[in-house]
Amino acid sequence: MTVPTIPASPQARFEAIFDPAVRADPYPAFRAAGHAAPFALPEFNMVVFGSYADCDQILRHPDGAVDRRKSTLVRNAIAGGADPADFDTHSFLILDPPDHTRLRKLAQKAFSPRRIRQLQPEITTVVDELLGRVADTGDVIENLAYPLPVIVICRLLGVPVEDEPRFGHASKLIAQGLDDFLPAVGDLDAGRQERLDAATWMYDYLRELIRERRSAPRDDLMSALVAAEEAGEHLTEDEIVATCELLFVAGHETTVNLIGNATLAMLTHPGQWNAAAENPDRMPAVVEETLRWDPPVQLSDRIAERDMIIGDTVVPAGDSAVMLLGAAHRDHAEYDRPDDFDPDRPAFRHLAFGHGAHFCLGAPLARLEAVTALTALTSRFPHAQLAGDPTYRPNVSLRGMSHLPVTLTGKPTAP
Ligand code: HEM
Repeated sequence: MTVPTIPASPQARFEAIFDPAVRADPYPAFRAAGHAAPFALPEFNMVVFGSYADCDQILRHPDGAVDRRKSTLVRNAIAGGADPADFDTHSFLILDPPDHTRLRKLAQKAFSPRRIRQLQPEITTVVDELLGRVADTGDVIENLAYPLPVIVICRLLGVPVEDEPRFGHASKLIAQGLDDFLPAVGDLDAGRQERLDAATWMYDYLRELIRERRSAPRDDLMSALVAAEEAGEHLTEDEIVATCELLFVAGHETTVNLIGNATLAMLTHPGQWNAAAENPDRMPAVVEETLRWDPPVQLSDRIAERDMIIGDTVVPAGDSAVMLLGAAHRDHAEYDRPDDFDPDRPAFRHLAFGHGAHFCLGAPLARLEAVTALTALTSRFPHAQLAGDPTYRPNVSLRGMSHLPVTLTGKPTAP
């Protein structure tokens, strides 16, 4: 295997990691550029970290904020004439306490492990229906990995799934917008207006549904949030819309990649698919190993509220500490043989769902959907084989495929 050389300048290291040419396999570039010591990009007010210990420390750090309005970049933009209202947000993913705590608590009730376990029969039924479509077309992403989480989040929230052609497109654009905080990368400016328009469209679409729930409540999360507002909880309509949008887009854009990445990992590691088909009890371990080895969320960041010391590195107040989670999961200091996909490795920790106050609210749902879908897929098609190269989406923060062609009637793969 060729070992990529470490690019000399921090800017070149950053670009090497996000080069579209390595989208299918960014891990050698991470090894070369991201595992080494943290590196600063002062012109973009960023410090980039790729070791497990550093990323873990950043996620737990009391001075690590998520509200963009605390960043030097945004403050400079406002000082330079940008409208402060453009940076207002009601999404608790990017809010700090006390707003984060208040809004997260309201949504949390619907995502408790107990409530999620109750969805098992419904998820199994949806998976069974979808498997028929996978058998017809052979595309695991389009016919299983994508529609499953979409159908489930639509039912939970109360969004009509028939509107998917409209909201699916908007959701994709909004997910791409997560990369907009990476100003150092290529032509991310391209399509920015389209992404902003998609977010506005989604907001109006959900606001309209929420208004309908006011006059005719149903048994769904949107109605529950409206009821909380009417019962005097401190919650505005903007906050209800933003919470629904966050859950809706998270439900669309993440679990699809977990199911897709696990399918590909099993098909490209001889024996893994057959082992899973023969023993469904392996699937939770396959899912956890996929979350480590090829995590759907590759990047996150925190804004230093005051000078923040991570390991030996200072992140200046107002700068962003960017975490390369995909690199942290291949860190030799944390894992034995980190580049091997090995569902049988002894118990380990990972950061695929984050850590601390913003730990993924949807983790129990994502795990349940992935285990159910992959168990059914492997046991129904025990002799599946890869039928061509997968196609990756251009996204950097959320890594995943748009197409994964699979032959579902092939002979068993060689062990
Ligand atoms: C495999 C699938 C998923 C992965 C890998 C994933 C990953 C993550 C990560 C890394 C974070 C933390 C971000 C940070 O700290 O900056 C997060 C937060 C979050 N996730 Fe997920 N997620 C997944 C599925 C879901 C699903 C299905 C939902 C809900 C429908 C969801 C809802 C959320 C919410 C609401 C937050 C924000 C929590 C907060 O700020 O307090 N996620 N997720």
